[in-house]
Amino acid sequence: MNYRSIKGTKDILPSESSQWQFVEQTMRDVFHRFNYKEIRTPIFESTGLFARSIGELTDIVGKEMYTFEDRSKDSITLRPEGTASVMRSFIQNNLGESQPLTKVYYIGPMFRQERPQAGRLRQFHQFGAEAIGSPTAETDVEIIAMAIEIYKALGITNYSLQINSVGDEECRPRYKEILSTALRTIADKLSFESQKRIDQNPMRVLDSKDENDKLLTASMPLITDYLNEDCANHFERVKSLLTAYGIPFTVNGRLVRGLDYYTKTAFEITSTELGSQDALAGGGRYDLLVKELGGKQTPGVGFAAGIERLMMILEKKGIQPPQRNPKIFIAAADEASREWVLTTTMRLRSAGISAETDLLSRSLKAQMKEADRQRSEFALVIGTMELESGKGLLKNLGDHTQQEIVLSDILTFFQQ
Ligand code: HAM
Repeated sequence: MNYRSIKGTKDILPSESSQWQFVEQTMRDVFHRFNYKEIRTPIFESTGLFARSIGELTDIVGKEMYTFEDRSKDSITLRPEGTASVMRSFIQNNLGESQPLTKVYYIGPMFRQERPQAGRLRQFHQFGAEAIGSPTAETDVEIIAMAIEIYKALGITNYSLQINSVGDEECRPRYKEILSTALRTIADKLSFESQKRIDQNPMRVLDSKDENDKLLTASMPLITDYLNEDCANHFERVKSLLTAYGIPFTVNGRLVRGLDYYTKTAFEITSTELGSQDALAGGGRYDLLVKELGGKQTPGVGFAAGIERLMMILEKKGIQPPQRNPKIFIAAADEASREWVLTTTMRLRSAGISAETDLLSRSLKAQMKEADRQRSEFALVIGTMELESGKGLLKNLGDHTQQEIVLSDILTFFQQ
């Protein structure tokens, strides 16, 4: 074989695609219930859009983006996430002009050049939603509740929600100063990665995966103790609304997230069913992002969830989508009947019924085996005898019963 798929990418095979369609349909139904409308943005954008939104110093922008120069020498990047593109589209198309609150959802592939492992790919899929135009805690909680509703609708119950407030442009710089000062006192004991972050992005040090870093920073000051009044009130309201909605959560003052655009609420939904890559979904508020990208000051909040990770849980728990097998398989007993079989299969399909027949000129025995393999609900064998009498025996392949059917009634029979 000369070519293989690129490291960190995966085919979604025919045997898996019904599971994907099931997840996508469930997700769309829930988004619809919350009155979010789909937005589809291009898969590639100007590199600057992501560098500006996600932050130059983040891992995503610093080392994970698929960036290239196109033939016009423009720097292009395959989108590593959806929020930046949605904000670009929101500004460019004046989506906020006709409505005070824009509620959109998206689904599609994202690209990050990370080290592939279970649950971590280089082309992966996300579904996500953004509510743009509202500063209220009610909106944060709608976003969180909607993400959780999708997991519930899929039968996934084993997850936990962690929330934090990362402050705003007023209280965060003050806290960062205090934290960097405290971190500098232990700098030489921290991992190399964390040492690099002390000055520019000290909050990420608290999020370090290094066990020694975790121990060393266990008693460092937390942002939640330094929030200004507005941020603190907002956080209190989020917590009390989550409680009112009956959504359990834990406050994790060390939750920072790997994207720089967040203000106030940040959250993550994790599952113990996953290995080290345990984040099912993440999100938060980004009140400065639209302005940062050249739009009018517009607050926003959203989330995104990894579909491959969700699939891993569905598989582990044996959650199967409803199967979409043919309703009827029509087998031709002889060559003379083939044309009737083909045209009748076609008429059934035109009438909206999933019908299958043989295209490989197989023996009757092989055709019946195929009908079983396809898990067709019914099978009908047609030969010269049936065509002459105008009647056939319709076999139910599930319970092995059979009944006589008048061939000219076949469409009405299946349309009932
Ligand atoms: P994120 O935390 O970078 O947030 O990604 C969201 C989810 O995408 C993760 O929780 C994970 O399930 C999945 N994911 C991320 N990277 C990979 C990967 N390499 N392989 C497989 N799955 C992955 C965002 O992307 C933000 N845009 C979320 C957001 C929306 N914030 C506000 N609005």
